[in-house]
Amino acid sequence: MFTIKKDSPVPIYFQIEEGIKESIQKGSLKPGHLMPSEREFSERFEVSRMTVRQAITNLVNGGYLVRQRGKGTFVASPKFDRSLQGLTSFSEDMRSRGMTPSSRLISFSMINASQQLADRLMIDVNEEVYEIKRVRLADGIPMAYEVLYMAESLAPSLEKDKLLSSLYDYAQQDLQLHIAKGKQVIEATNATKEEADLLEINEGDSLLLIERQAILSNDRPFEFARSLYRADRYKFSIEINR
Ligand code: GLP
Repeated sequence: MFTIKKDSPVPIYFQIEEGIKESIQKGSLKPGHLMPSEREFSERFEVSRMTVRQAITNLVNGGYLVRQRGKGTFVASPKFDRSLQGLTSFSEDMRSRGMTPSSRLISFSMINASQQLADRLMIDVNEEVYEIKRVRLADGIPMAYEVLYMAESLAPSLEKDKLLSSLYDYAQQDLQLHIAKGKQVIEATNATKEEADLLEINEGDSLLLIERQAILSNDRPFEFARSLYRADRYKFSIEINR
């Protein structure tokens, strides 16, 4: 793999870290490659497991490696670079990358709007609202967990099966709704146990929370959604001018 110099003034954890990074950059370690365990590494380099753990943790935090609970540590795939320009749907986004989007429906229920939800959806308090919880997958890999709210009056005959594919496609093609604009807020958060289980990551792992309010061309809100994206799989970018 690579060698480390015990008599070097460069800390050993750093040498391991740089060695792994270089192997990833040169392509000798490919995305999805299962890394040796901490024990194997410490035996191979004759260093303590603490030293190995520090190197691995830094690489995980830097997005080079991903830990998968019960499976091991793998070389990370390059992060998706999602543009912050344009009001795209999850399905459009994945299709444009040549990946197949799908959804796992966690729950689909009807609730009465709280004051906060009523304000976001511009409806009356207690009006009926769909609450839709979905895990969004790309080529079968969980990417995001979304909880979205939508006034029932916008889609009175919405059925479960529509939620397994694109909600935006359904709204635009079947309901003839025109999703025109929106507002998004991005925040950092950490996965709860439930979110971690759904996204197949570890509790406490970093997530990007995106709150989206999408608005129809008649100025009526279409949805209020909270999407949790895996921070190890996503980065967001935007072009700016001055
Ligand atoms: C994105 C947005 C959600 C939106 C979803 C629709 O993920 N963050 O707010 O509900 O796209 O995606 P689709 O049309 O694939 O159901």
